Amino acid sequence: MKAAITAVAHNTPETVYDNTWFAERLDTSDEWITTRTGIRETHLRYGIGLTDILLPAAKSVLEQRNLQPSDVDCIIVCTVTADRVFPAAASMLQAKLGAMNAWGFDLAAACSGFLYGVVTAAKLVESGAVRNVLLCGGDMMSSILNFDDRTTCVLFGDGGGAVLIEPSTDGTGIIDHVLRMDGNGEKHLHMVAGGSLKPATVETVNNREHFVFQEGQAVFKSAVKGMADVSYEIMERNNLTGDDVAWLVPHQANLRIIDATAQRMGLTKEKVVVNIDRYGNTTAGTIPICLSELHQQGKVKAGDNVILASFGAGYTWGAVLLRWSISSKDS
Ligand SMILES: CC(C)(COP(=O)(O)OP(=O)(O)OC[C@H]1O[C@@H](n2cnc3c(N)ncnc32)[C@H](O)[C@@H]1OP(=O)(O)O)[C@@H](O)C(=O)NCCC(=O)NCCS
Repeated sequence: MKAAITAVAHNTPETVYDNTWFAERLDTSDEWITTRTGIRETHLRYGIGLTDILLPAAKSVLEQRNLQPSDVDCIIVCTVTADRVFPAAASMLQAKLGAMNAWGFDLAAACSGFLYGVVTAAKLVESGAVRNVLLCGGDMMSSILNFDDRTTCVLFGDGGGAVLIEPSTDGTGIIDHVLRMDGNGEKHLHMVAGGSLKPATVETVNNREHFVFQEGQAVFKSAVKGMADVSYEIMERNNLTGDDVAWLVPHQANLRIIDATAQRMGLTKEKVVVNIDRYGNTTAGTIPICLSELHQQGKVKAGDNVILASFGAGYTWGAVLLRWSISSKDS
């Protein structure tokens, strides 16, 4: 028995901010942002909780499977921007959904959160420990962005998605994974204050230490290599060539990182899901949003080989190979 994604949905705030909005306030330009990152606009809604954004997506995946909230066994929310430091967003989502029989937890692996979550949820289902997992990935990056820092605030957006992971017996489902971590990357990408190492004080707020800190170029170099390496490795060890792969669903941090990964895999542009132009980097939200749009557009068929790939803070990175399980919307 394998575990498979059996339903998928996403949600983002309605309010859209295009590059011009940033260019009117900061020393940046639409041209710089577009050519260096691929981003044209992001969805942002400062001051609402992540679980408010995830709730419609969670309801939608249950509806797609004709399940009641009481049927959910486990909820995993992959995020670094939960509604509160504690309790977990999973608890808050469970209450909002009325999933009274579910246990669950949050998983913090930043941009690789959803990939780590897919593997964790699959193992819970495959072992028989649970019948299903409501797996969500998303981030409200506006809550940790310094809107005076042009090097970070133009990159990120708010949003997320949900999938249902259930048993599969027809050979489709989650086939293989390569997950990696290197904690030495912490110095290049982190939030300075707000944790136990440096709790919030008047000084940390005045020094603007509750925001994303990123050394873009250092992260870029590791991301290009890391994401391409694991994507190639998962193809090689499953004897796949570019022709065998229907879709690459990459984390959406930078179009140049995505292009480098696709090139290493021998994939043409038509096989690569890109929506960074419309959402920016929603951290743990990028991959479920991509999967949801791909499914909604009827572009992915049951049996298609799909590779998910990511790189993010930690560092954390990885690739997951799955054989798509949901019938195409068109079929
Ligand atoms: C952030 C990122 C887009 C920056 O692109 P880059 O080509 O590396 O650019 P650099 O950081 O080297 O900056 C080049 C110049 O542009 C400037 N710059 C940075 N942001 C700018 C902006 N929004 N507008 C205009 N100029 C900007 C820099 O200050 C720098 O100027 P300088 O040369 O005078 O010092 C890129 O490094 C990146 O995508 N990094 C990885 C992000 C990632 O994968 N994160 C992991 C998941 S969260």
